[in-house]
Amino acid sequence: MASSSTHSFLLLFPLLLLLSTVVDSGSAPTPAPAATAEKYQKWCQVASDSQSCIKVIESIPGIQEVDYNNASKVADLCMHFAANKTTEAKGAADTLLAAAKGKPSSCLKACATDIKSMAEVLVNLPAGQDDMNAYLTFKDVRAKFKDEKPPACEKDCWNKTSSSSADETGIVDKFHDIWNVAKVGNMQINYIFPWPDSDDDDNIL
Ligand SMILES: *[C@@H]1O[C@H](CO)[C@@H](O)[C@H](O)[C@H]1NC(C)=O
Ligand SMILES: *[C@@H]1O[C@H](CO)[C@@H](O)[C@H](O)[C@H]1NC(C)=O
Ligand SMILES: *[C@@H]1O[C@H](CO)[C@@H](O)[C@H](O)[C@H]1NC(C)=O
Repeated sequence: MASSSTHSFLLLFPLLLLLSTVVDSGSAPTPAPAATAEKYQKWCQVASDSQSCIKVIESIPGIQEVDYNNASKVADLCMHFAANKTTEAKGAADTLLAAAKGKPSSCLKACATDIKSMAEVLVNLPAGQDDMNAYLTFKDVRAKFKDEKPPACEKDCWNKTSSSSADETGIVDKFHDIWNVAKVGNMQINYIFPWPDSDDDDNIL
């Protein structure tokens, strides 16, 4: 039994090799799973909690195929993903704010403000932006948040779900994802156009 299965494996092996060669030549190479996990881990080193950073980064459409060193592409995807999430989050926050009729909880208020700041910079990103445009956009994001390190929604509300509704928790979680993705994008831009030392405060994104 053992020898016959060994035998059929030996027969099968060249066939598998042949098949995989044929398949490989027809499609773009994809990184092995281990390499992919390592890629997300490295990008997420800037995040305060890398587990939730990895979870959101790996959900970005198109990121799986991007090379580890392709800072330009990673930054671009991060910014567009952050912009998309910000549009979603702003819609949800505006609805909750309206429902709160002028008496929002402190977290809803903080998160709505932070999301609005993000939206002011990110919502009108051109689809095919170049690195300089990405740099300038991130410069604006950094300027928006330079007096809030980290933003109140991230610092005071993340994980503190005791008194908030499920809807409110959803907004906090969305901003947390946006912030993680922005941090990763900010670090990637820094590889292309380093932020000036005076500006290079880890807490600014
Ligand atoms: C980065 O990725 C983009 C799009 O996938 C590609 O066009 C570009 O050549 C890549 N750049 C590098 C340096 O690999
Ligand atoms: C952002 O949203 C646009 C429009 O829905 C979509 O085409 C694009 O793939 C999204 N980009 C990212 C990175 O999520
Ligand atoms: C937030 O919650 C996650 C998941 O429960 C946990 O891993 C993380 O350490 C918490 N972060 C903070 C800042 O409390």
